[in-house]
Amino acid sequence: MNPAAPTIVADATPNVDTLVSSLPTSTLIYIVLLIVTYALHAIFMHYTIGGALWTLGSAIRGRFSPSTNAPRDVLARTVRDWLPSAVSGAITAGIAPLLFVQIVYQKSFYTANLLLFNRWMLLLPALIIAIYALYVVKAHSFARGRFVKSLAAAVATVLIAYTGIAFVENHLLSLQPAAWPAIYGGTAHGPTVERIALRFSMWLCAAMPTFALLAAWQLRLGAGNASDGDRAQSARPLAILAVLTTIAAMGIAFVAWHVAHGESNVLASRIGLGALITLFAAQILTIPCWLTVAARRSLNGGALWILLVLSLVSIFSAAILREAHRLALLAGTDAAPREPAPVGGLAIFLIFTLLGVGIIVWIVRTVARSLATRTN
Ligand code: HEM
Repeated sequence: MNPAAPTIVADATPNVDTLVSSLPTSTLIYIVLLIVTYALHAIFMHYTIGGALWTLGSAIRGRFSPSTNAPRDVLARTVRDWLPSAVSGAITAGIAPLLFVQIVYQKSFYTANLLLFNRWMLLLPALIIAIYALYVVKAHSFARGRFVKSLAAAVATVLIAYTGIAFVENHLLSLQPAAWPAIYGGTAHGPTVERIALRFSMWLCAAMPTFALLAAWQLRLGAGNASDGDRAQSARPLAILAVLTTIAAMGIAFVAWHVAHGESNVLASRIGLGALITLFAAQILTIPCWLTVAARRSLNGGALWILLVLSLVSIFSAAILREAHRLALLAGTDAAPREPAPVGGLAIFLIFTLLGVGIIVWIVRTVARSLATRTN
């Protein structure tokens, strides 16, 4: 970051479209990368929190404890078995947006980190403990009892939820530069509990349909040796969860927008309004698809393909809306995006990107091949 680089200052009420067209190309590229990588992170974190809650419910119902004579539940076991990897996926997929958010919003992101301080630093131990707790839920050799499994699942769920809350509070804090001195001086509080609760519950509800869809695809692809009977058994609960939480997320989003009324003029822009309309339309269209899944009790039809496309559209348009809102709020302040320093290194960056992608592809292919050999 070049300290001498000019802050991009706009009018008192800048329009996001004008703002975006006035951004230097390099900043725009980083914002696009931030949106794309954040959307990928969102897919993993949605599965993580949805899977943690599902696993907690299953542990309480004794699904992982042989002594309870629980019925065969392939969905519960598949989610439980994949959860530690999903958390690792959320963590590793978080690194790329972390890099880009620091480049684009260095001042606001770091200030929010510092104001959160201990609660921000707690993220590390929280995630480490969550992963180990999930292995306790998964373990076959010890901790077979319902109580221990439920306790471990509860610990993991609370810690994963804590991570989400910390990111939500950090994000809200990063959007109020005018309040930072008073918050630091102890004469003002950060975002109110209601604002945090609204945004967190919106995220929580929005995460569930993504989780339901990914879990449905896992069973469809044969995870946990799922049979047609297992898929039929899981179709309705997943569809009901997805429909109810989609409706709840839209309702909470409406309330959250109403509470923050006038905070930003993002919807006056083509980008902001376009993203909102796309998001809303995609969310609405998921409902009949899920109802079809529920009615047919099947995870094999074309509905899951349509849901996949609609979910990707939703996640990307939500990420665009989120970024447009931040741009509008920070424009004209000292925390607005700055042009990154014109230092070189693009070639090295591209070489390591290709190397990284190559290694990831190699690992995935190697593991997939070895899994295929084991099941044959
Ligand atoms: C299971 C663990 C995690 C969960 C549940 C989680 C959850 C979240 C949530 C809810 C947000 C959105 C906040 C908002 O818009 O208000 C977010 C954003 C983000 N997360 Fe994660 N996260 C996790 C782990 C991580 C990790 C380990 C990293 C870093 C390596 C990371 C990097 C980010 C970044 C960079 C953003 C965007 C921040 C911004 O734009 O202000 N996340 N995460």
